[in-house]
Amino acid sequence: MKAKLGIIGLGSVGKALKHTLDWFYETVVYDIVGEYRWQDILNTDAVFVCVQTPEGADGRLDCSHVDEVLERLSEDNYTKPVVIRSTLRIGYMDKAKSKYPSLRLLYVPEFLRERSSFQWSVCPDRIVIAGADEDVEEVLRYFSFAEDAQIIRTDYRSAEVGKLAHNAFIATKVSFTNEIEWICSKVGADANLVMEVVAADRRVKSKEHLRPFLGPYGGKCVPKDTAELINACPDCILLKAVEAVNHRTRKNATEPKLVPNGVNCEATAR
Ligand SMILES: NC(=O)c1ccc[n+]([C@@H]2O[C@H](COP(=O)([O-])OP(=O)(O)OC[C@H]3O[C@@H](n4cnc5c(N)ncnc54)[C@H](O)[C@@H]3O)[C@@H](O)[C@H]2O)c1
Repeated sequence: MKAKLGIIGLGSVGKALKHTLDWFYETVVYDIVGEYRWQDILNTDAVFVCVQTPEGADGRLDCSHVDEVLERLSEDNYTKPVVIRSTLRIGYMDKAKSKYPSLRLLYVPEFLRERSSFQWSVCPDRIVIAGADEDVEEVLRYFSFAEDAQIIRTDYRSAEVGKLAHNAFIATKVSFTNEIEWICSKVGADANLVMEVVAADRRVKSKEHLRPFLGPYGGKCVPKDTAELINACPDCILLKAVEAVNHRTRKNATEPKLVPNGVNCEATAR
């Protein structure tokens, strides 16, 4: 018999996960927007929590929607694995574990790219997983479709920081490219050729985020996840500089630019 898996929160991440899991399992979904039955979620073999964690007023990720879901599952004595896929504020999992001791909590952060979310969900680069050993074994079976993914078993805290560090690295690459583009404009070099020189190296590998003239980093996740690291650890110097370059790039990006190869391009969020 097919396992029955619950998905809570049907935004970009929840929809992509449903699209993937539907190939292999029976799925049941629940969202506070729309007509869904909470009772159906309680009759599943595991649930995946995919609700939003926006940037809060203190610059840290606001996990109150995750909390609402865990509260409800705990009140209803849910006994199966609860797999959190939302991006979390550092330290959230330890607090959740003591607040909801009866829940079998795992953290499996999602790394998909929103513009091609289905493809990334079906074919992830890695599965990062933290939780009790027997729960990890059980939940990894549900990810067996991801044959080529690297499995990284970790503790809660390293999974939290690992997810954020990945987005902060993307932010750093974008700001690096924008810094070089800015320097090129000051000293009369062609930023396209300069970044071609940087990217043509086996240590650099992918040209992703190393193309000039694409504007500041943006979107739903990279800015808020980078801010979470900065505000959790206010002494960090590099990520503050990454943010400062992004602000300057955004400020300078209001006018469409004529790039050296003659193509007019609007500055866009990467
Ligand atoms: N969008 C991405 O590209 C992406 C990539 C990786 C990780 N993430 C992370 O995944 C999480 C979800 O992101 P998203 O973009 O899918 O968010 P989203 O805002 O698109 O969707 C969240 C959904 O959760 C629902 N929801 C909120 N509270 C609920 C509750 N108590 N019960 C049931 N449903 C509830 C909302 O109605 C909404 O439909 C965030 O933590 C985000 O940082 C997002």
